Amino acid sequence: MDIKASLAGEIAKAVGLDGAEVLDMLETPPDPKMGDAALPCFKLAKTMKMAPPKIAEEIMGKLQKPEYIAEIRVAGGYLNFFYDKTFYVKTVMGEVLAAGTDWGKAKIGAGKTIVIDYSSINIAKPFHIGHLSSTAIGSALYKIYSYLGYDVVGVNHLGDWGTQFGKLITAYKHWGSDDEINKNSVSAMLELYVRLHKEAEQDESLNDEGRAWFKKIEDGDEEALRIFEWFKELTLNEAKRVYDRLDVQFDSYAGESFYNDKVGAVVDELKEKNLLEESDGAYVVRLDEHKLPPAIILKSDGATLYATRDLAAAKYRHQTYDFDKNLYVVAYQQNLHFKQVFAVLEKMGYGWADKCEHVAFGMVSLEDGTLSTREGKVVFLEDVLNAAVEKTLAIINEKSPELENRAAIAEDIGVGAVIYSTLSQSRIKDITFSFDRVLNFDGETGPYLQYCHARCNSVVERAGERNAKMDYSVLENDEAMAVIKLLESFPQVLVSATEKNEPFYVTRHITDLAQACNKYYFEHKIIDDNEEQTNTRVALTKAVRDVLKRGLSLLGIKAPDKM
Ligand code: ARG
Repeated sequence: MDIKASLAGEIAKAVGLDGAEVLDMLETPPDPKMGDAALPCFKLAKTMKMAPPKIAEEIMGKLQKPEYIAEIRVAGGYLNFFYDKTFYVKTVMGEVLAAGTDWGKAKIGAGKTIVIDYSSINIAKPFHIGHLSSTAIGSALYKIYSYLGYDVVGVNHLGDWGTQFGKLITAYKHWGSDDEINKNSVSAMLELYVRLHKEAEQDESLNDEGRAWFKKIEDGDEEALRIFEWFKELTLNEAKRVYDRLDVQFDSYAGESFYNDKVGAVVDELKEKNLLEESDGAYVVRLDEHKLPPAIILKSDGATLYATRDLAAAKYRHQTYDFDKNLYVVAYQQNLHFKQVFAVLEKMGYGWADKCEHVAFGMVSLEDGTLSTREGKVVFLEDVLNAAVEKTLAIINEKSPELENRAAIAEDIGVGAVIYSTLSQSRIKDITFSFDRVLNFDGETGPYLQYCHARCNSVVERAGERNAKMDYSVLENDEAMAVIKLLESFPQVLVSATEKNEPFYVTRHITDLAQACNKYYFEHKIIDDNEEQTNTRVALTKAVRDVLKRGLSLLGIKAPDKM
């Protein structure tokens, strides 16, 4: 039973309002002394033509107190509801325990398809820390939507097209060594690329060669394609190592080159629909009515652009997956690009253009400034993960030298800390990455949550096999109630996370849960001589453990049983 929804329904019935609207208005007071749920009446002042405190009294007068409400109080413009603790604890705990590790799992997405474009790395370029946000946010959304019953399609829209690949082949032909490239893969490619740029400053013909090689790729020349495919494979092998560690999967790796044979049709369609205009030799779609600069579709040499490929990709995704949402988890630097692409789709007459959404996120930088692409310094994500794991292992070796499987646990904690740090705030905010902060076991960090989970787990294990006799009255205190409320709202938080495409809602919620749990743990003994009360407190601990583990796994973070 959803107590808040039911309460909203009763209020709505009493005063003739819409139930969903009232539910939207119902708040959880920050301090439980002010009640368990509160209705701010300010918004109703206009429609009910009364001062908010009067409205609160009016509603209280008309409302039949439901059995789960112990008391209702008017406080200024608020109507505060106090749950009947006995009823509340018993009902919520009953439901949470019955669902077990599946608490929050839902079918609301059944029959609906969500396409998520995330990670979308560039071939022959390092998988750097800047791609971490796209990868972590996209993958978390993938897992959360799936858990709510949606069909999810994860797409890695690889950056595998462009003149730079012609240049890379040129460099390889002049100075490349197969052994070196097979051994060092992207690092070696990067070196070749940098060398080409340097030498081309003296020797302009290298750029011509680069263009010629790119033309060969475009024309399907066997040698050019073979070399390019080899670079692509090496890049992906390297990326897949990182994906495995981050627990990230994709259903499709259709990147920019996949649309080579599909961009022509888009250009033709734009022509037919009279949307294409010549401008300085190039072809553009004007977007004046959207107050946007024109979208360039064809360059003066006839080459297509990133945007042209995204138009083809959106059409392809619509045809192939018939999506309900088509999400792009890409940095906010590309805001304009996506606005333009969506506006062109709209001008093409596609009603589904409004199902496309740019899920933008902020920049990632390292605290000591090592991540400055302008200076040519890139930080490989793999190195960041390795460093996090190494530092974790050092901490474990010092603090818990007796722990078994230390290396595996350090991997889970180190990688988890990095993922947590990217998902620990609203995605649009810029992030400054600091090792000291993310590996802190006390602050709001991944390790802190993992530690709380492991501690709950050891309590449950120590308590051993228990029977089902409960005495829920032992949970009718502030600390336990705080925990139970967070358990109760977990399913709703997952739904909100998909509505706003904000995995951070989940991070915040399970962080609150871990904090509430630690507070409870500090004030209350779990195991004592009273069998039924012990059963009940262990059951609460178990519920917290399971929800923490589920929440972490939806974020892509592992929860080791011991730490
Ligand atoms: N490869 C691009 C980059 O690294 C991101 C691609 C995002 N997806 C898309 N459909 N445009 O900037």
